[in-house]
Amino acid sequence: MLPYLEEHFGNPSGLYRAGREAQQAIDGARTTVAGCIGARPSEVLFTSGGTESINAALCGIAYAMRRAGAGAHVITTAIEHHGGLHSAQYLEELGFDVSYLGCDSSGRVSVEEFREALRPDTVLASVMLANNEVGTIQPIEDIAEVIRASAREHGRRVMLHTDAVQAPGWVPLDVNALGVDALSLSGHKFGGPKGNGVLYLRRATPFRPLISGGGQEMQKRAGTENVAGAIGTAAALELANQGIAERGARVRALRDRLRDGILATVPGSRTNGCQVNCLPNNLNISFDGVESDVLLERLDQHEIAASSGSACSNSTWEPSHVLLAMGVPIRQAVGSLRFSLGENTTDEDIDTVLRVLPAEVESTREHLAARSAS
Ligand SMILES: Cc1ncc(COP(=O)(O)O)c(C=O)c1O
Repeated sequence: MLPYLEEHFGNPSGLYRAGREAQQAIDGARTTVAGCIGARPSEVLFTSGGTESINAALCGIAYAMRRAGAGAHVITTAIEHHGGLHSAQYLEELGFDVSYLGCDSSGRVSVEEFREALRPDTVLASVMLANNEVGTIQPIEDIAEVIRASAREHGRRVMLHTDAVQAPGWVPLDVNALGVDALSLSGHKFGGPKGNGVLYLRRATPFRPLISGGGQEMQKRAGTENVAGAIGTAAALELANQGIAERGARVRALRDRLRDGILATVPGSRTNGCQVNCLPNNLNISFDGVESDVLLERLDQHEIAASSGSACSNSTWEPSHVLLAMGVPIRQAVGSLRFSLGENTTDEDIDTVLRVLPAEVESTREHLAARSAS
């Protein structure tokens, strides 16, 4: 990235040499990303991140389909990232009818329910590839097959988008094997720079740009490009694409040791989500009698960085919408923590968490019990 922040600082739209160099660099990055996901370079757009890609896919495709008279029904799931959920809610404000599919206790969406949700006026379906809170991998290929079968039988044209933000480095990505028309990625989820994303849009997918202005990104995403960001994103994706099976096996073993160690040493702990057919680097676990943010603060003092799916605003707990959709009771959901392991997570890191966590869970319980007694 550095040369494009320093020496080659030309604007890719410029006709002068530095501009042409910048444009060539972006096109090179585009070809790299396309190669990583089985797409054509002309089908790859650079964006400001996963959220923008998802917003553009949902709003841009649904709008263009409705404008073409195809209908105004959209199918998505109740467990999407807020980038998808809030885009779907915006579509509702614009007059679209949106069906939100639920999931089972492992966080998996039912292909049968998807089939039943399809209607003659369905124009778009958006189902995430891997869930960011519980790691469940969704049956996107089977959903794509249902859409193809419906197209053969009824002549319906339904576009399929997937939020694949959590997948790179863990799940091999091939847009043709998945059978999707659009796919969203976020650079910083696979070691690239923050504030950079990718939107794959299959050729001839109806699309109205979300961001209008100049003709950048093949008229599909206006605004002067983040050249260094695109280059960093492409380089990181290329690295993430290498050694997926080996990385997955190594990190899964660490994750399983963390899970088994916690379950064995912390009474009142239980895992949320699937343990098979899920991302190898994700562990979502609940502790009875705990509010996750209180525990997170304590872990932070030991330099353990975890996260929770719940949010506390104005002293009201909003438990994770994903856990609630899975049928996890509210009390269990507010005490849930998510550990995300990475390529560089070590055995020592796991030892540290296993050493620190039991006592911190216990003292969090005592603190909260004393607080509610007072
Ligand atoms: C599944 C999923 N989708 C979308 C996003 C949003 O990506 P970004 O932060 O690049 O906007 C995230 C980020 O955590 C995510 O996990």
